[in-house]
Amino acid sequence: MNTQSFLFIFFLSLENPVFSHEDFYQVRACCAFNGPNFNNIEYTIMTSFNKQNMMQYNSTRGNWIGFTQYSHDNSYYWNKDPADALQRVLQKKLLCYDNLHHIRTMGNLSTTPTIRIKSLIKPDGRHPALLICSAYNFYPKQIQLTWLRNNQQVTKGVTYSDVIPVGDLYYHFHSHLEYSPAPGEKISCMVEHLTMSEPRVVVWDDSLPKKEKTKIVVGLIGLILGLVILISGFIYHKQKSAVYNSICQGHHREWWPSD
Ligand SMILES: *[C@@H]1O[C@H](CO)[C@@H](O)[C@H](O)[C@H]1NC(C)=O
Ligand SMILES: *[C@@H]1O[C@H](CO)[C@@H](O)[C@H](O)[C@H]1NC(C)=O
Repeated sequence: MNTQSFLFIFFLSLENPVFSHEDFYQVRACCAFNGPNFNNIEYTIMTSFNKQNMMQYNSTRGNWIGFTQYSHDNSYYWNKDPADALQRVLQKKLLCYDNLHHIRTMGNLSTTPTIRIKSLIKPDGRHPALLICSAYNFYPKQIQLTWLRNNQQVTKGVTYSDVIPVGDLYYHFHSHLEYSPAPGEKISCMVEHLTMSEPRVVVWDDSLPKKEKTKIVVGLIGLILGLVILISGFIYHKQKSAVYNSICQGHHREWWPSD
């Protein structure tokens, strides 16, 4: 990939068969947006049967290819059919071009969270200590915050706030950790957000009150990486939120073999 280009891929993947004992057929349509102005759009469709890839359409290449003998023959006929070609052009317009505005807006708006850990109750031997990890001023809303104790995820004593809207554009999010400190241990707060290529880990340092502040990085790299996270973000959040559904398309149905 050209370093100056974005590769934005959205997809909706409905991977859980409704009836898991049945065969299923899956179609996954993707728009990839390349170039600084997202003006280079590639539309791809992958069809699969029980997770075996069957046929792929690629708008750059402009045709279908098949991965099995049957779908190879099928591709041959579909590629000769002008009605099919027209349908692909219309789909590309509907799914990719008509959503370009949303994608641009999302790229423009996304903001990396500022992350801070503070002590609310200091340990004194009698009651446990209480820490708060806060993520400030981020967009979009989807965020994942995890407490780590010696790099292991902690679930006990952890509570989460709602994701709190602040003004029109930003969100805040907080999590508390109640724990009994042990000497030499390392407590940290890990935040995952689509603007960051990898989770950001902020380590709690007892000795000096930290003003841990992450810079807001919005730029080419941020956007490229951001979308990579958005892909996983989307998969992760697809149950919880429908935010990205409008950009994507997928079909999934059981398959009845024709007699
Ligand atoms: C689509 O085809 C083009 C040209 O052959 C190729 O560069 C690109 O990687 C293909 N895209 C996908 C998703 O396979
Ligand atoms: C995104 O930002 C660019 C450059 O600042 C601007 O030209 C464009 O209109 C913005 N797009 C949207 C949808 O806000």
